[in-house]
Amino acid sequence: MSEAQHHQVATGDRAILPEGARTIPIFVMGKRYEVPETLTIMKAMEYVGFKFLRGCGCRGGICGACPTVYRKEGEYKLRFGLACQTVVEPNMYLAQIPFYPANRAPYNLDEINPVAETIHSLYPEIFRCVACNSCTKACPMGVNVLDYISALKQGDIERAAHLSFDCIQCGLCASRCMGELPQYHIAQLARRIFGKYIQAGAEHLKARVAEIETGKYDPTLGNLQKMSHDELEKLYKEREREPDLAPPGTWWPQDAQYL
Ligand code: SF4
Ligand code: SF4
Ligand code: FES
Repeated sequence: MSEAQHHQVATGDRAILPEGARTIPIFVMGKRYEVPETLTIMKAMEYVGFKFLRGCGCRGGICGACPTVYRKEGEYKLRFGLACQTVVEPNMYLAQIPFYPANRAPYNLDEINPVAETIHSLYPEIFRCVACNSCTKACPMGVNVLDYISALKQGDIERAAHLSFDCIQCGLCASRCMGELPQYHIAQLARRIFGKYIQAGAEHLKARVAEIETGKYDPTLGNLQKMSHDELEKLYKEREREPDLAPPGTWWPQDAQYL
């Protein structure tokens, strides 16, 4: 198979590759494996026999379950990524960190005083931050962790909520923090306070929730619950779908009874 053909067929996240596909060595917890070069770390580990009981969720880069630390041969630098999104490279030394035991303060959002001092008292360790920026360098989502921690130290909940919006709670920032901060739990509290108490409410959302509470969708959901697996699958496959490249606001389903 030519190089061009190889790259044509062996792309994406396919675990079973055509004969002749190139493999590369990677090291998982110190042991060497040969894996197809086009796979993500997650697929490569499954390819060599690992089964994910933890450390795998959405497979789409959004749930934060698959944080991975790795180093490349000959480098001192530690690198970070999501196993479901990062493609393997030759001689990667890999370790998964599917859970990080960071402190998470208990609180009741309905009773909380929505001010920065509340965050400071629930997470006093925030003032242990020494602005080293290791957290930002570790973040696989490109979130500026140091900046949102600094915003919160200054009392700016709104800025912290916006800066941390892409956080997927993977915990890699906390794993690198010399101040022992659970940055992602702190930012989550900031976003919750911002969403519940500071940001203006969305009127269309309130209207939608009220509509749902009238029971409008109960019969439909009841019918779905009675369907067999095959009937559900057929319904799903035959559903009306928005075209992938439709400009926003230009598509409307022919059957609008569920809207
Ligand atoms: S901010 Fe921390 S927990 Fe959130 S995505 Fe980045 S590294 Fe992961
Ligand atoms: S790693 Fe910890 S100490 Fe360093 S900047 Fe981030 S929050 Fe601050
Ligand atoms: S499995 Fe969800 S982010 Fe990787």
